[in-house]
Amino acid sequence: MDVRVWTAASPLSGRVRIPSDKSMSHRAVIFAAAADGVSHLRCVLDSADVRSTLDAVSALGAAVSILDVTADGLTLEVAGWGARGPLEPKAPIGCGNSGTTARLLMGLVAGWPVEVAFTGDASLSTRPMLRIAEPLRAMGARIETAEGGTLPARVKGGGLAGIEYLSPVASAQVKSAVLLAGLRARGRTSVTEPARSRDHTERMLPAFGVPVETEPESLRVSVAGPSVPSSCELCIPSDPSSAAFFVVAAAIVAGSRIHAARVSLNPTRAGFVRVLRRMGARVLEEGFESLGTEDVATLHAEHAGALRATVVGADEVPGLIDELPVLALAATQAAGTTRFEGIGELRVKESDRLEAIRAGLAEFGAAVRAGDDWLEVDGPASLQGCRVSSLGDHRMAMTWMIAGLVAEGETIVRDAEAVSVSFPSFTDRLRELGAGVEAL
Ligand code: S3P
Repeated sequence: MDVRVWTAASPLSGRVRIPSDKSMSHRAVIFAAAADGVSHLRCVLDSADVRSTLDAVSALGAAVSILDVTADGLTLEVAGWGARGPLEPKAPIGCGNSGTTARLLMGLVAGWPVEVAFTGDASLSTRPMLRIAEPLRAMGARIETAEGGTLPARVKGGGLAGIEYLSPVASAQVKSAVLLAGLRARGRTSVTEPARSRDHTERMLPAFGVPVETEPESLRVSVAGPSVPSSCELCIPSDPSSAAFFVVAAAIVAGSRIHAARVSLNPTRAGFVRVLRRMGARVLEEGFESLGTEDVATLHAEHAGALRATVVGADEVPGLIDELPVLALAATQAAGTTRFEGIGELRVKESDRLEAIRAGLAEFGAAVRAGDDWLEVDGPASLQGCRVSSLGDHRMAMTWMIAGLVAEGETIVRDAEAVSVSFPSFTDRLRELGAGVEAL
């Protein structure tokens, strides 16, 4: 599906309903599948990626019932395999486009005496899996990957021993995969990261009855095995990464004012808010409260005049990794040169996002330079409407639709159906705020 976007003729205004968090939805379903008893999960994101996780845990023996499908997401009842362990599925587990499904589940099944094959779509089949295969092998799992360390992969699990793992990358998927394997390993399993990645696993496992030791100074996180999660009731808040598209839209479309309720403002995810404020955007959080394992608030964002350039340092990157495409777009509207450093991880996302951002912004007429792990964007640029492809990457599709709002003339975003991975109703939400968006 292609989508046509017109230059915003009027400010974006109103409340925007942001779907539930993708990372937390995957984890809630996976932990419930591994738990003893029946978990009740509300406001679970209904998107292609989370459906991949639901299908995967069902194939592994969890009984998943979808009790309701509402605008707030899925209401689920999940009877987990608990101490019995997962079944050995006959067919490979298809993970679709979802790295979180593949990596977390490979870690989880590695602890059990089963043999499970994992496959993915064309994009996922190019993404690195050795980053989890190596620590899991060090724990005693046997893992075969395709040449180049990608999917398809086969995990032969069981008989694991805990390890002290120094992860070379700040990756929540690596950290979570090792900790989930650690649930079935003898002794203690620890992961130390080079920088703090999102901490939903550490927050959510205790809600499922699994103690997690966190040492904030050293960025070390540990679990003690063996440990079986117990069932839980959870409600998932809105996804800050999805909210970021509308926050940036409000910051760059003159006169705009939007708000979004119930958004998780977990400090390991809210880096984009800090950067946008530094650029002069007006973004306010109101009414902090606790929802399940997270703090949520209403996010208000409004256009506050011209933005200014900033430097986003490597240390900030894990806290805004998924927001870099839309932050780079914001940088085209900021006076001066914005520099993003230490962003090489973008090359192994759903697309090579560093190149996708560079090439896409250049299509819109922005002055942009990229190196192996950095990007510079000059602003303010007057963007020109163009034809640009999502490359099948949900976050690129949404970034280019927001770009179309400030570009002169029409923009056609090709392969825009990729939004179904994390935000299936994205174009409807944009239209409700007054944007001119049409599916072709
Ligand atoms: C995720 C972690 C991040 C993020 C991805 C979701 C997760 O990936 O980019 O969208 O749910 O753990 P990495 O762990 O590869 O950094």
